Amino acid sequence: MTDSLVAALRAVVGDAQVLTDADVLVTYENDWLNKYHGTARCVVRPGTVEETAAVVRACADAGAAIVPQGGNTGLVGGSVPRGGEVVLSTKRLTRLDPVDLSAMQVTVGAGVTIEALQRHARAAGVDFAVDWGARATATVGGAVSTNAGGSRVVRFGTMRAQVVGVQAVLADGSIVEQMHGLPKETAGPYLPAMFVGSEGTLGVVTAVRLKVVPWYRHTAAALVACESVADAVAMLPTLRSLSSLDAVELLMPEAVKVACDHLGIGTPLPVDFAGAFVMVDCAANDDPSQDLARLIGDRRGVMAIGPQRDQLYRIRDHITIAIGAKGTPVKLDVAVPVQRLAELLDEVHDLIAGIDGGELIVFGHLAEGNVHVNVLGAIDCAAEVTEFVLSTAIALGGTISAEHGIGIAKAHWLGRLKGDPTVAALRAVKHALDPQGIFNPGVLFPE
Ligand code: FAD
Ligand code: MLT
Ligand code: ZN
Repeated sequence: MTDSLVAALRAVVGDAQVLTDADVLVTYENDWLNKYHGTARCVVRPGTVEETAAVVRACADAGAAIVPQGGNTGLVGGSVPRGGEVVLSTKRLTRLDPVDLSAMQVTVGAGVTIEALQRHARAAGVDFAVDWGARATATVGGAVSTNAGGSRVVRFGTMRAQVVGVQAVLADGSIVEQMHGLPKETAGPYLPAMFVGSEGTLGVVTAVRLKVVPWYRHTAAALVACESVADAVAMLPTLRSLSSLDAVELLMPEAVKVACDHLGIGTPLPVDFAGAFVMVDCAANDDPSQDLARLIGDRRGVMAIGPQRDQLYRIRDHITIAIGAKGTPVKLDVAVPVQRLAELLDEVHDLIAGIDGGELIVFGHLAEGNVHVNVLGAIDCAAEVTEFVLSTAIALGGTISAEHGIGIAKAHWLGRLKGDPTVAALRAVKHALDPQGIFNPGVLFPE
């Protein structure tokens, strides 16, 4: 018996854009980590904002829950069904408006990948500011919805700092938008900001207006061996004095090693004697390598220009993949005030040392105090490890989600992080916009 909703969706987007075959659905039903999964009622792929609105209306009329999905590279279980939801894929919302060089802004569809956006911006002689390893698959809509960060936050901020306009479809099928990109307007609460970090719980982002930034064509990177994390943190004031500073990544020795082993290459520096590595990247309108070399001075480090720099980024981008190839990690994305980072990692290190077979792999974004704590061989005590790391981060004045979002993974932590009054206010907004609770039930807000 045909599902009447599937028939209604087919009438909106055409048969080819409503997927129901189990073997096709599987890629939409399993997350990138292969950790979260569930069955979808179907996958629907609207091609316009109007089709998206009609799809949402049909689902709302049928009381069917919706999981908005972009590139499905999310790491907290928010992008895949839990059981029976309609997956609304934004992959066909790929509008690319011309770059407005006067305003240094561009409007793009939610389904545009970060890499396609970077190419589009560079074709116009400018650049897009947010970058990370999943750029080929992650979408603009997903990046807004998770307030993605990545390696260039130290220079340009997270997605929140790039968004100047949003168009979205709400649970009643209405289309809301504020896309003029005017730097100055004061007319009530700022709608675009509401969708940043909303993780698909307030509506479907269908298009976004974003800032573009100058394209700094001259780059130079370095990998610096530090005695300890505290030593790495002590480098920050000097690093921040570089006007060309573009990225400051923390790579603990085990992270460098796991990526290089997986790539089948040697490590750029011996990993045995370093307490921590800092990967510094500089980008400017003229060659920044002298400035960088001067700054490194007599520290143990290796400069990486051109192909060597690409190799350094290949190692950095490969860490997550390499860890996943070794097993399923307990994976946490925390941030603390950078002066407390060494303390956090000492406590985490001591905890994991007590887990038989536990393998701690830490890396992240140093300037933001944001580390990705991955623990292999600890799945059986995942709850204890998670409780310890997240509660320690909060105790040190930090957060349990720096850039990946809350998703399903940490929904039950929201109250501990934000306090009940704030969660109640956020729930009130969610209920006002989505009274049936059709958007991503279970994500961000615990059921
Ligand atoms: P999805 O995974 O499809 O969805 C993510 C969330 O957003 C879900 O809750 C979904 O419902 C919602 N959503 C997606 N599209 C929309 C839309 N149009 N409207 C409303 N809701 C929507 N993240 C970082 O911040 N920094 C990193 O350095 C980083 N590195 C990564 C490296 C690797 C190898 C991988 C696999 C992931 C990495 N991520 C990183 C995580 C991930 O890439 C980001 O969270 C990204 O923003 C997700 O985009 P996506 O299009 O894949 O979204
Ligand atoms: C990264 O910085 O590489 C990502 O946030 C991915 C991860 O944490 O695994
Ligand atoms: Zn990261």
